[in-house]
Amino acid sequence: MNILILNGPNLNLLGTREPETYGQATLADLENDLRAAFPGVTFAFFQSNHEGALIDRLHQAHQRGADGIVFNPGAYTHTSVALRDAVAAITPPVLEVHISNVHAREDFRRHSHLAPVCAGQISGLGPAGYHLAVRYFVDYALP
Ligand code: DQA
Repeated sequence: MNILILNGPNLNLLGTREPETYGQATLADLENDLRAAFPGVTFAFFQSNHEGALIDRLHQAHQRGADGIVFNPGAYTHTSVALRDAVAAITPPVLEVHISNVHAREDFRRHSHLAPVCAGQISGLGPAGYHLAVRYFVDYALP
């Protein structure tokens, strides 16, 4: 089972970035915790601050036959039609994950361009959201 964990802009700064909103765990902590929690899963991890690089990685996951994608698009959630189109264009199911509760913050964070083309959205559960998304793929979504 192959799952891509894809993170968008500024998520490389987890641990130091607005810790009152995003917590103390770094992206490396988050990735190591996932590896430890799901030893049977083959993970690919990718983070980029660039929209096109994220699109390329979605295409690549499709071409390589990934079973599922856990995607935190960061601020591109609220702005990117191109990322929405990329998610709509590929076969692997995508779960949108946000560390913070985007519905309890500024109004502009309430709208996601990607949510309508994702299998679902998890928001506000901290790094546990990534675990729950992987758990969904492992237990419910994949053959
Ligand atoms: C975020 C929420 C977005 O609104 C924000 O721009 C981020 C992080 C989250 O994980 O809570 O960069 O996706």
